[in-house]
Amino acid sequence: MSSFLHQRPLHNILTDQYPLSPRSPQNSQKPSILFNRTSLVLLLSLLIVLGILFPWIQIPQGGLFSSSISSSRSGNPNFSESKWRAYTLSEAAANVAKNNTLIVCAVSEAYLPFLNNWLISIVRQKHHDQVLVIAEDYPTLFKVNQKWPGHAVLIPPALESQAAHKFGSQGFFNFTSRRPRHLLQILELGYNVMYNDVDMVWLADPFPHLQGEHDVYFTDDMAAVKPLNHSHDLPPPGKKGRTYICSCMIFLRPTGGAKLVMKKWIEELQAQPWSKAKKANDQPAFNWALNKTAGQVDLYLLPQAAFPTGGLYFKNPTWVQETKGRHVIIHNNYITGFEKKIKRFRDYGLWLVDDHSLESPLGRL
Ligand SMILES: *[C@@H]1O[C@H](CO)[C@@H](O)[C@H](O)[C@H]1NC(C)=O
Ligand SMILES: *[C@@H]1O[C@H](CO)[C@@H](O)[C@H](O)[C@H]1NC(C)=O
Ligand SMILES: *[C@@H]1O[C@H](CO)[C@@H](O)[C@H](O)[C@H]1NC(C)=O
Ligand SMILES: *[C@@H]1O[C@H](CO)[C@@H](O)[C@H](O)[C@H]1NC(C)=O
Ligand SMILES: *[C@@H]1O[C@H](CO)[C@@H](O)[C@H](O)[C@H]1NC(C)=O
Repeated sequence: MSSFLHQRPLHNILTDQYPLSPRSPQNSQKPSILFNRTSLVLLLSLLIVLGILFPWIQIPQGGLFSSSISSSRSGNPNFSESKWRAYTLSEAAANVAKNNTLIVCAVSEAYLPFLNNWLISIVRQKHHDQVLVIAEDYPTLFKVNQKWPGHAVLIPPALESQAAHKFGSQGFFNFTSRRPRHLLQILELGYNVMYNDVDMVWLADPFPHLQGEHDVYFTDDMAAVKPLNHSHDLPPPGKKGRTYICSCMIFLRPTGGAKLVMKKWIEELQAQPWSKAKKANDQPAFNWALNKTAGQVDLYLLPQAAFPTGGLYFKNPTWVQETKGRHVIIHNNYITGFEKKIKRFRDYGLWLVDDHSLESPLGRL
């Protein structure tokens, strides 16, 4: 908010509501009123009061006093920051959802380049209007909303962003273990929701693949090639007694079944918290939740050719050639480290931020 805007309400108050010097020459009392002791005291008090109020008076975008109240309440003179701090998930969802459906991701500041890359690929499928970024820290909340108002929300508490970077760390576990809570909240508000990790790229529109009226849609993280007509049921458990379904791409309808899976996922995360020895992420808990709710919930495994794991797409060029034209979302996993992921995306022509950042609603970051 520029400083000249600050001047205006003060100017208006002084000239229009509390005229200090009478403009009418008829007023013969003028000198005695102005230099009268009581008047001077009153005038000084008024100036002091205005001086105190002045820093807190701002011009909100949507009408005087409607939102300036929240900024003075939080003691933050920066109107836009306090506005976004107060922005709730239900407001954000109502503003952003299209066809009662949201596309969400959860990112901390370090992941902003990946967010932008993912967004550009979604713009190309014309689904970006439905994207809601769950910001895990305040810099992310402010940066996204500054460029793209309303498309980021922070569900408190904010994470300390330093802790959340390293895959396999406790910070990373804490960061990802909030995911089922966020998704459950969105379901409770009544929306369909697609969750994506931001190290993904869309090559086509995934929505036509969400066939039928199932509760939960997901993809397999196993790299073994399956026939094109593979079953859409939950696959059989693997070596560790559980499946390897990816928690990276999930579509949920706001049904009792989908909510049950999210609640079970939260329980499983609490039952098997992070430990130094296991260095778990949130994916095993998601798989146990699917295993334990499979009888009560309508689950749907998406086609491998459309939603391949990185362990297949980036490692089996023969398969990629054979399934050409069927790929919908590519996941840059089975590799760790920002630099390695970026290099691999570049090698495959999927790092769009270098040359196409103008297509993103966030522009160049
Ligand atoms: C709207 O959502 C329904 C089900 O959630 C889906 O079947 C339909 O294709 C969607 N329509 C558009 C225009 O995206
Ligand atoms: C207010 O917040 C916005 C959004 O984070 C930021 O761009 C701007 O620089 C801030 N202004 C001041 C005066 O701090
Ligand atoms: C992760 O969460 C646990 C439990 O809430 C907490 O004790 C720990 O300090 C957190 N660690 C990090 C690195 O965020
Ligand atoms: C897939 O196709 C093969 C050969 O056409 C067939 O034998 C198999 O039963 C099919 N599998 C499913 C799950 O439909
Ligand atoms: C759940 O896991 C157990 C233990 O590995 C397994 O025996 C069972 O078949 C699984 N259930 C489903 C529905 O996958």
